[in-house]
Amino acid sequence: MAQNTHATWTPKSWRNFKIQQQPTYPNQTLLQNVEKELSGYPPLVFAGEVRSLKQCLAKATKGEAFLLQGGDCAESFSEFNAINIRDMFKVILQMAVVLTFAGKCPIVKVGRLAGQFAKPRSSDTETINGVTLPSYRGDNINSIDFNKESREPDPQRILHAYHQSAATLNLLRAFAQGGFANLEEVQRWNLDFTEAHSQEKYKKITQRITESLRFMDACGINAQTIPQLRETDFYTSHEALLLNYEEALTRKDSLTDDWYDCSAHMLWIGERTRGLDEAHLEFLRGVKNPLGVKIGPNATLDELCGICDILNPQNEEGRLNFIVRMGADKIQKNFPPLLAKFTQEGRHVLWSIDPMHGNTIKATSGYKTRPFDAILSEVSSFFEIHQAQGSYAGGIHLEMTGQDVTECMGGSQQITEENLSDRYHTHCDPRLNATQALELAFLISDKIKKAHA
Ligand code: PEP
Ligand code: CO
Repeated sequence: MAQNTHATWTPKSWRNFKIQQQPTYPNQTLLQNVEKELSGYPPLVFAGEVRSLKQCLAKATKGEAFLLQGGDCAESFSEFNAINIRDMFKVILQMAVVLTFAGKCPIVKVGRLAGQFAKPRSSDTETINGVTLPSYRGDNINSIDFNKESREPDPQRILHAYHQSAATLNLLRAFAQGGFANLEEVQRWNLDFTEAHSQEKYKKITQRITESLRFMDACGINAQTIPQLRETDFYTSHEALLLNYEEALTRKDSLTDDWYDCSAHMLWIGERTRGLDEAHLEFLRGVKNPLGVKIGPNATLDELCGICDILNPQNEEGRLNFIVRMGADKIQKNFPPLLAKFTQEGRHVLWSIDPMHGNTIKATSGYKTRPFDAILSEVSSFFEIHQAQGSYAGGIHLEMTGQDVTECMGGSQQITEENLSDRYHTHCDPRLNATQALELAFLISDKIKKAHA
């Protein structure tokens, strides 16, 4: 097998490396036809936008901005509609207003959207009532229905995912630039939210934002006069897991001659596919996009440094984001020594926290769930650890939805184990619902404020 630091990189050099978490397509000819077709389709994002995001993330690396990354665990073909996209976008904007006010810094908004289809699985197969079939790997690969035909990987789904991503991105761009993201409107949604929830803390923050907006208005600064108050920048990201899809959307930028993966602005590599000598690192080292890498509880200093050597040999700010996902019970013990040793290396990395993937439990009813308190606790620990070491907690990465689902337990709605079955709709992991997501933003506002004091 090849080594991914010396050989020449090409969009398909990953094919010479060991690879994990991939489907086995029964019809290779069909797969090749799909890849060929996709490689002739227009890119979904433009390299210039990717460079702008990288500049924003460089600021977040230095403590001058904060990354808010959120969206579905897995997008699905069946839940694809304008309402779901609108409500997700809406809650991310609402959270961003709260966090901007708290941190007094720009919030870089990145959706897990418009391409977040492929899923790594803990097992290659699933057994129900004695029947064993291939695991569901995401809607761009196979179907969640439990029968032989549905679970067979179908290359045509890759094209379906592309078209859905294009339509999603089109609506997001319209929302971001067309007036829907007007700050005064977002503030009104937050006022409605705080009216409906009795927490004094949320009300106080919202009142202070209203006062600030009134003051600015009195000075002539409002959405009519200042475009930045009625528009926003919104970027997309997903796990670069299905490399056939990523390769086909990788294009050479005519302005710089550099390669960009034009399936999204930012890509990340999961905890299970970040092996130093494996295909996913090989593929991503050659594209110029900002990259995330998930960091679980057993990550070592050598692994972190190896990832930096491969993905960011120039030590560029804004290129690399380590997404910590250790779990509320492990982060306190495992993260401080790792962070302390890594900081001595002098490498530029944006640290963010994914408080979802280390806090998944199985309820007695069988539903996968996550306790809101564990999520909040891991985020709080992350901020405290950075504060204690004088480094910067630069972002948060969430699985969430704009819908009122019952997938994570707790929060002010006090969702219990018994409530989970009411509206449990996720295709993969449990997501924070709109209320829980916004509450989390209010609850961490003190932490982000302190980080910027
Ligand atoms: C995910 O983000 O959906 C995921 C699978 O995460 P991880 O690789 O951290 O388990
Ligand atoms: Co997930």
